[in-house]
Amino acid sequence: VTGRVSGAGDAAADTGAEAGAYRRLWGGRFAGAPAPALDALNRSLTVDIRLWREDVEASRAWAGALLHAGVLRGDEAAAIVAGLGRVAARLEEGAAAGAPDEDVHTLIERLLYEEAGEVAGKLHTGRSRNDQVATSTRLWALRASDRLEAELRALQAALLATAEGAVDAVMPAYTHLRRAQPVRAAHWLLSHFWALQRDRDRLRDGRERLAVMPLGSGAIAGTGFPVDRHALAGALGFAAISANSMDAVGDRDWVCELLFGMALCGAHLSRLAEDLILYSTEEFGFVALPEAFTTGSSLLPQKRNPDGLELARGKAALLAADAVAALGLLKGLPTGYQKDLQEDKTLLFRAFDALERLLPATRETVRGMRLDRERCAAAAADPALLATDLADELTRRGMPFREAHGQVGALIRASESGTAALAELARDQLGVAASVEGSLEARAAAGGTARAAVLDQIGLAAEALLT
Ligand code: ARG
Repeated sequence: VTGRVSGAGDAAADTGAEAGAYRRLWGGRFAGAPAPALDALNRSLTVDIRLWREDVEASRAWAGALLHAGVLRGDEAAAIVAGLGRVAARLEEGAAAGAPDEDVHTLIERLLYEEAGEVAGKLHTGRSRNDQVATSTRLWALRASDRLEAELRALQAALLATAEGAVDAVMPAYTHLRRAQPVRAAHWLLSHFWALQRDRDRLRDGRERLAVMPLGSGAIAGTGFPVDRHALAGALGFAAISANSMDAVGDRDWVCELLFGMALCGAHLSRLAEDLILYSTEEFGFVALPEAFTTGSSLLPQKRNPDGLELARGKAALLAADAVAALGLLKGLPTGYQKDLQEDKTLLFRAFDALERLLPATRETVRGMRLDRERCAAAAADPALLATDLADELTRRGMPFREAHGQVGALIRASESGTAALAELARDQLGVAASVEGSLEARAAAGGTARAAVLDQIGLAAEALLT
């Protein structure tokens, strides 16, 4: 007990060192520093330090806006901007390590005092951390979303390049994980390309709502100074300004949208991963994974495990949970900023980090994998895969499809009971034949697996990668 009491005392002494920082921001109406237990809960610096570049940038622009609004004199604005430059240099060199501040905004303000002196106290004029954090986080997310888009495009390019070399490779396509019909391997690979294209489209579409600047909303009622918010938005690279300050400080719809987009992207990567895990098993053997993207077993000498792909499946679960968590944060919040929203960054950073690790690993796995064309072709040569083609052929000769389906079904049953092979029965009893090549080429309608249709699809995919 004594130990704990003295421990708490030490913690209180630690926060005492930062009382100056607190006093500067909001300490005026407080007699002392917050309780250590609250401080430990409330402090977000270790998470939001990642916003420092954006926060410095937004502060520079805000100083400019205050200058144009006549709030700051030229020399004051210049001193603040120069001071922020030195703050940025210090942060670049690791000044945040072990800093006692509550969050990145208070850290930067404290450092600005150290660099620029008392004029630092004028920067927060007409601004609140509520509009500030929303602005910095949006700026960060805009950049992160650009990086993600580039990574997605690179994975799509890897899939496309692999598909281009697999137009004439044939494999079974599965429904219910049962062999269904033969397809070109390129067709399968590109099926994943289009899912990722939708992910990229979603990111780009979301920018319209992401690139809206909340700065100038103040704490909730709007800034009390005549700031030109349009000019400020232009300076920071935002496409628009928020129309309602009360909405702007509490709006995290864009966090939800991004997290949903990332969760869905995670689901797509997970499905690609699952195909590759399955197809690289000894049982399937369609694909050989690059050695550098597999790991060994501590016990089983023969093992080469697809850990990266398994983690794609695993991370997809966390991404989905983060999207749900974001909705949970918003639901039930009263209008305006509430501290619950501080958790948005933990979710955003975690999700972006997961995808920024997953996407390159998945891309390199795709680039390094080898398709075993013989194994694929052998599996696709299963005569049962041509059952639909036999029925289609009967239909082309005038038989209603439902009846053709029944007749071929009866042949399958007969072939399974050992009477004769399906192809023989079809030839002898129905006078029709089918081949893998014929099956592929019959599917020439757009989006199908015929050679020309797949080549068209490759053209569309290449075009999609141009933007
Ligand atoms: N660290 C806070 C966050 O991330 C900054 C905003 C705090 N605003 C406030 N009024 N306490 O949300």
